[in-house]
Amino acid sequence: MPNDDRNLLDVLKFELEFLEQGGYGRLPRESWRTGFVFEDSPTCMNFNSKDHKPCSECLLMQFVPQEARKEQTPCIHIPLSPNGATLEALYRTGTQQEIEETLGAWLRTTIHGLEAEKMKQVTRLAPPERPLALDARIVLHSLAVTPDQLPKPAIRPYPLKYVAAWTMKDGNEVTIRPIRPEDEPLMVKFHGTLSDRTVYLRYFYSLSLSRRVEHERLLRICFTDYDREMALIVERTVTDTGERKILAVGRLNKLHTSNQAEVAVLVSDQYQKLGLGYELLRRVIEIAKDEKLSQVSAEMLPDNVAMQVITKRLGFKVRTSEDQTSVRALLDL
Ligand SMILES: CC(C)(COP(=O)(O)OP(=O)(O)OC[C@H]1O[C@@H](n2cnc3c(N)ncnc32)[C@H](O)[C@@H]1OP(=O)(O)O)[C@@H](O)C(=O)NCCC(=O)NCCS
Ligand code: SF4
Repeated sequence: MPNDDRNLLDVLKFELEFLEQGGYGRLPRESWRTGFVFEDSPTCMNFNSKDHKPCSECLLMQFVPQEARKEQTPCIHIPLSPNGATLEALYRTGTQQEIEETLGAWLRTTIHGLEAEKMKQVTRLAPPERPLALDARIVLHSLAVTPDQLPKPAIRPYPLKYVAAWTMKDGNEVTIRPIRPEDEPLMVKFHGTLSDRTVYLRYFYSLSLSRRVEHERLLRICFTDYDREMALIVERTVTDTGERKILAVGRLNKLHTSNQAEVAVLVSDQYQKLGLGYELLRRVIEIAKDEKLSQVSAEMLPDNVAMQVITKRLGFKVRTSEDQTSVRALLDL
């Protein structure tokens, strides 16, 4: 019986981050081999532990087919792709790159599925037209307790302090504010305004519109845990029609493993060169400082001159990778 009380979604997200940070490529203790997936990851409940717990207690067991649950390392029998590829088979026939790509795809799909399920449950229990308090408790604190001594709420409220009006170089007024779940339809329209070149510069490959506007993907972006990430959007209301539009998005993603974050900016083609990219990144950095982070970084393609100009202007140290395929900008806060 699984006896692992960690949160499955947190564990899978951590594993994805470990993978994306190249965790399996560098094992400081055993430099002669790359890491075994799950077993050598900090997500394994036996990682660095002298007290070895049986795998039968691991929360990954729910993904292991019944017939493989008694194997010595059950997690290598998890089917990771629609055609049933397992680590056990990939170790024999696949390259390290294939293993990591298959694992990454499985983690992303499983995380999206779990998040979508969580959202469905919340919506079922508390539909937007009929908000419902599922539980309530009142705790009275002494007047001597200052606001910063009060316990933090489980879900951080909408960060109103990051809502501000701003004027673009063409004189038009916009609002810069943290994203909200109800922004999803505006995000769909925003993605429809992006050229192939802009998408390529942001994601480093051509991500189709249908993929960019997938409900599960946008749900993850719009339904933000403000403690872990922050997405600022630039919103404009067209005076004549009253239509609301998103013109740009800036993101700050905290890394689980350190006090650092990755930042990125995306401006709709029609509104580029109006100061939005610089202003969004400047604000994202201010948020990173408020969050007491120690460093932020941005990754860009070598021909992304605009982003290099902006990051340098904001004080980042900008360095091209040895193989000249990407540029990394780092800012100590
Ligand atoms: C890169 C990007 C965010 C820049 O945003 P932007 O709003 O167009 O840029 P800004 O108007 O804030 O420009 C700031 C400065 O960058 C420079 N700049 C902007 N575009 C430039 C370009 N195409 N070539 C050279 N310099 C450029 C300018 O010097 C400008 O300042 P100035 O006009 O005051 O001298 C935007 O072009 C974009 O979304 N690109 C696609 C996605 C992307 O590359 N994201 C970054 C990856 S993390
Ligand atoms: S199944 Fe066993 S080896 Fe695999 S992650 Fe869980 S505890 Fe670690």
